[in-house]
Amino acid sequence: MNKWTVAALAAVFLTTACGSQDNTNSKPAIPADAEIEARVEKTLGTLTLDQKVGQMLELQIDALGAWGDDGRFHLDSVKMDSLLVKYQVGSVLNCPGHALSPEDWNAVIGEVQRISMEKIGIPTLYGIDQNHGASYSIGATFFPQNLNVAASFNPEIAYRAGEITAYETRACGGPWTYCPTLDLARDPRWPRFWENYGEDAYVNAVMGVAATRGMQGDDPNHVDRNHIAVSIKHYLGYGMPFSGKDRTPAYISPADLKEKHLAPFKAAILEGGALTLMANSGSVNGTPVHASREFLTEWLKDGLNWDGMIVTDWADINNLWQREKVARDKKEAICMAVNAGIDMCMEPYNVDFCTLLKELVLEGRVPQSRVDDAVRRILRVKYRLGLFDQPMTEAKDYPRYGCAEFAEFALRGAEESEVLLKNVNALLPLKPGTKILVTGPNANSMRTLNGGWSYTWQGDADRYAQEFNTIYEALQQKFGAGNVSFEPGISYKMSGAWWEENEPRIQQAVDAARRADVIVACVGENSYCETPGNLDDLNLSGNQKDLVKALAKTGKPIVLILNEGRPRLVNDIEPLVQAVVDVILPGNYGGDALANLLAGDANFSAKLPFTYPRYINSLSTYDYKVSERTATMEGAYDYSADVKVQWPFGFGLSYTTFKYSNLTVTKPQFAAGDSLVFSVDLTNTGERSGKETVMLFTSDLVATLVPDNRRLRAFEKVELAPAETKTVTLKIAAADLSFVNAKGEWCLEPGDFRAQIGTEVLKITLN
Ligand code: BGC
Repeated sequence: MNKWTVAALAAVFLTTACGSQDNTNSKPAIPADAEIEARVEKTLGTLTLDQKVGQMLELQIDALGAWGDDGRFHLDSVKMDSLLVKYQVGSVLNCPGHALSPEDWNAVIGEVQRISMEKIGIPTLYGIDQNHGASYSIGATFFPQNLNVAASFNPEIAYRAGEITAYETRACGGPWTYCPTLDLARDPRWPRFWENYGEDAYVNAVMGVAATRGMQGDDPNHVDRNHIAVSIKHYLGYGMPFSGKDRTPAYISPADLKEKHLAPFKAAILEGGALTLMANSGSVNGTPVHASREFLTEWLKDGLNWDGMIVTDWADINNLWQREKVARDKKEAICMAVNAGIDMCMEPYNVDFCTLLKELVLEGRVPQSRVDDAVRRILRVKYRLGLFDQPMTEAKDYPRYGCAEFAEFALRGAEESEVLLKNVNALLPLKPGTKILVTGPNANSMRTLNGGWSYTWQGDADRYAQEFNTIYEALQQKFGAGNVSFEPGISYKMSGAWWEENEPRIQQAVDAARRADVIVACVGENSYCETPGNLDDLNLSGNQKDLVKALAKTGKPIVLILNEGRPRLVNDIEPLVQAVVDVILPGNYGGDALANLLAGDANFSAKLPFTYPRYINSLSTYDYKVSERTATMEGAYDYSADVKVQWPFGFGLSYTTFKYSNLTVTKPQFAAGDSLVFSVDLTNTGERSGKETVMLFTSDLVATLVPDNRRLRAFEKVELAPAETKTVTLKIAAADLSFVNAKGEWCLEPGDFRAQIGTEVLKITLN
């Protein structure tokens, strides 16, 4: 779909998402299709209460089968009969432990579908986590993780990666994924930082809409066989646990929840047509989201006028009593969650949800109408996906699975997503013939390039992605094997926990460095996912820092490669190196992309979609409150405050330079209903072609709530040849400048705002 250009996306998004002065929506978010609604009602009318509660249950595939001696996963007919068929279960999820080939996927999903159709009469809704491509499928195209996609500031990458992911998921027989992830990555300690599109609400919204459209296509009522249904997640406020640890409580002001955290979900529903949503496993301000009628029903279903389906996260109804202690037992937990608005329970191993929910209905504690509403929403997704008519899709009909064209796109995406953060004395690009020492624990690993959600939950690309190039292999190919040597110095314990390292061999790396012109030191993290990725110290590991410090003493220039899912602190080693590239988690083509970039065959164009912290006690986001940074006041006491970062949000270098000039706006004095068109001239002042993301930031200078320092309101990525000038226009609605006040209402207050694009600043005033 070519209309999803950056500009079109931004413009469409701005009509209703962040800029709305209201979070309610009078028109249906997804206009109902009369024929589908009639079929839903007809099916619903034939179902007994037992069948209805069965539809509301989702089981994990492991509960229904086991791995055989032949190395293949087999469904077990006894388990299928006693669980799936007996309880008329409506949905199944996940891969059985590790990735399958498309054919093996076809066999597993095909069998579940066949039995569901024959014995239940309703197709199953099979869900798989496809975080950066069809990431549980052998031979699928793996894209950079979402944090990289955000760094590209190019929504076309999110869109096209979504399209290819959908195609390859259909090849496997899957119609539904738990993606895209739209939590705001606002705390770098959190182990799921890399799964979403960075810290900013607007970037998450734009990318979330693009990914949703890419995966689902343009007509949410008729998702064709090249597309799949999304489940945007994890609604709401998941990304800011107070402790920094996964699935622990968040405390977020009601204003921020509405203004920032809701924004990407709202956009993905209203502009993207997202069909389903997964709830946040944790609690916000003391209320577990799975038990919040306000968040699930009032804000989403009623507020947005949305007829989609809400699924729990993993075992999260159980967690209402076992972990969160807001319910006495499982039955009370089910009662709370279903009454709050949960439609489907990702149990994932047990069927007593059905028995207990039936009892709750018969006792009058859960209204029959609530169960009907939930089942209607589940059936609606199944009809919208066409599953009643064609329950399966098969690999043989998807000949482009894993094709060269998809690979090429993933490579370009990786190139656009690796961020150049430092390049003293133009050390980069490296000249042909340069003798390079590649070192560090991330230098020769596919696992670290991909991160978690790659072939297995915790990430196991070293086992499944051997045919792709690690950084070391890609540099060898680029600069010639004779010019590139490898001595890791530090290595991860492959059988241990993700943070464990083997005994350092730093001296060997130092000795090897003496024979090289340049050191490429690849540091960061091994792969992890979710709660196992919790950490106690955001600093880069001591061994890895020691390696860089020892290498620096050789006097050889160092290119520091950061390959990590969250920004690990490097303030003490950054001054020792001449160049820094944060490749984040660029996927299977990330090594090749880096080699192209380091050689200058491609130009850097990514920018940080998060604030890279400098100190552990100075964690911040770019939209911090203005009073977090103040000069001291007059008199004896120093009341100053500062925000110290390593690299700011939006920062990223290129091999060329850009100059901004002539910023103008159509209405320096504006009214609340106006549109504002900003225009700026951008000139490529260097000697190479390059892409630059033009970003419009605004600041409300005085407001009734302490204003944010700045907010990103629009962006567009443009490409310029040397000496070329382009005029870039960015359009916003005046309403985009509004904020949620202390009463929880959207408001736009008169007064002055500062608008900034690049180095250019101007004042605009709402009269
Ligand atoms: C994660 C979700 C995921 C689900 C199913 C949970 O542990 O939080 O993001 O979609 O598992 O795999």
